Amino acid sequence: MQYQILTLYYLIMSAQNIAAKAIVTPDAAPIELDLSQFLYEAVDTAPFLNIADWATYYDEIPTDPYIKDGYRYKAIAWFRVKHDKANAIEGIDDHIAEVNRLSGMSDEESNKYLSSSKPNWHDNASGYSAWQLPQYAMQQSIKYNPVHGDMRREYPPISTNITDGADFHRLLIHYASFFGWSDAIVLVQFQRVDCYTDRSGLPAVEGFHQDGNRHVAMLIVNRDNITPESGVSQYVMDDSGQKTEPLIFNEVIPTGQLIYWNDKRVWHYGTEIKPAEASVNGGRGVRDIILLSAKTPPANMPIGPVPETYRYWSEADYPVS
Ligand SMILES: [Fe+2]
Repeated sequence: MQYQILTLYYLIMSAQNIAAKAIVTPDAAPIELDLSQFLYEAVDTAPFLNIADWATYYDEIPTDPYIKDGYRYKAIAWFRVKHDKANAIEGIDDHIAEVNRLSGMSDEESNKYLSSSKPNWHDNASGYSAWQLPQYAMQQSIKYNPVHGDMRREYPPISTNITDGADFHRLLIHYASFFGWSDAIVLVQFQRVDCYTDRSGLPAVEGFHQDGNRHVAMLIVNRDNITPESGVSQYVMDDSGQKTEPLIFNEVIPTGQLIYWNDKRVWHYGTEIKPAEASVNGGRGVRDIILLSAKTPPANMPIGPVPETYRYWSEADYPVS
């Protein structure tokens, strides 16, 4: 009986989850996915991404200094992704100009990052253009992150070997095209969580939460020497800003799967990870992911000034990585 009720529940939930696709062509401004009809959707990236090279890069990412138990590693990058046929959102240019000014940048340098300047690259098939933005700090509102909210967090850049590559560009374009936004700032986070036999790793320190975005993407790049039940992705529904109880999604997302979800309508969590074999890799297990979140004002814009260490304004100044 209980099983039948649950089955009925999932049928209703999955029926609600069927949404019309966004319409993105190079010839017209995109028509956005109707987020009121969207909860989540998983996509297999094997046909368009080779993530094998990215998996090896995670070994280079330094420890996240803001997690005192030291099990998290993080590198980040910021992009502006705008469709050529859509008007620029003024609030985005204003925000970028303001954070650039707070970072000590001249107007001339700052203008290079605005939509009036030439983008770093362009995708002919979709009509999207992208600008790689400076290495801003993350400064999330306390409303969304009770553990690290309002604290400025400084992270190193993702290697340009990755961010300049065609696969990475395809990932950004896939994200933009799936939701069909006109103009947004995208935060990309490469994140590893590790564990040992005597210390597990937590993919979501703050428990079930929302991040204050409209929609988020997560790509699983690598699960190495962790138990099959490690890092289970779980969603529950939001009810007027409150978390509800029933799990509407409770699955281990396999390597190579990209999952999109509606951050306004669901709360998310990832269960802890534990090593599978004590005799492998010195008993260490890892889970490596990429998180993508698009920001459009007046929503949460968790962007702080560029840290002193990363104030290299022209590409020639970028450290070799
Ligand atoms: Fe999150």
